[in-house]
Amino acid sequence: MLYLLDTANVKDIRRICDVYPIDGVTTNPTLISKEKTDFKELLMKIKDVLGLGKMIHVQTLGENSEDIVNEGEALNRFLGENAYAKIPVTPQGIKAIQILSQKGIKTTATAVFTPQQALIAARAGADFVAPYVNRLDNIVGDGVEIVSEIVREFKIYNLKTKVVAASFKNLEQIHKASQAGTHAVTVAPELFEKLLQHPLTDSSIKKFEEDWETIYGKDKLISDLI
Ligand code: G3P
Repeated sequence: MLYLLDTANVKDIRRICDVYPIDGVTTNPTLISKEKTDFKELLMKIKDVLGLGKMIHVQTLGENSEDIVNEGEALNRFLGENAYAKIPVTPQGIKAIQILSQKGIKTTATAVFTPQQALIAARAGADFVAPYVNRLDNIVGDGVEIVSEIVREFKIYNLKTKVVAASFKNLEQIHKASQAGTHAVTVAPELFEKLLQHPLTDSSIKKFEEDWETIYGKDKLISDLI
C-alpha cells in the first residue's frame, strides 16, 4: 500500500519524509490556501523536499474541461511526469480526464463518494480515484465500505486505476481501508505520525533498555561493544 501525505505544509512533509517511506503528497485548494504563500514557489518546495520519483497530486480549479486540461498541462510542464492533476468528478472533469489521459498526463479523480463515480473516472482513464472516507462517515455513510466496493469493482473489471483513499480522521478508518485493499492512503501529517505509536511499544523498549543497562551500562550500543 502506498502512503501519501495529505498536506501542503513543507515543514511537515520534510519532517515525515526524513523518516518514513512516503510515496508522495496530495493537496487540495483548502490545504494550499492554508499555507498563505506563493503557489508556484510552494509547489517547487514540495517537489524538492519530496525528491525524485515521488508523486504530487494537485487539484484543478477550472469548471470546464478546457480550463481543467490547461491546468493539467501546466502542472505537467512545471512539475514533470510525477504530477497528477487532481480533478473533481463532475461531467466536465470526466471529459478533462479523458483528454489528459490521451495526452499521457496523469490524473486523480477526486471528491469521489460513490462506486459509480469511481468506475466512470476509471473508464475515462484516471490513474487514481480518491474516495473521501470521513466525509462519508460524517453523514452516516460507510466510507470504508465504499472504498472496499471500488477496490472490488476495479478488480472485477480488471481496471488499472488505483484507489487512494482520502479524508481520514482516525486510525481505525486507515486500518479498515488497508484491510479493504486500497492501493494507497493519503493521510494528514498529525494523523500519519500516530500510525506508529503504541504504548506497549514504548513500555517494551523501556524494559529492554533497563535490562541491558544492568549488565552493559547506560547508553552502550552494540557498536560500542564489538
Ligand atoms: O484530499 C482530499 C481530502 O483532503 C479531503 O479530506 O480531511 O478535508 O475531509 P478532509
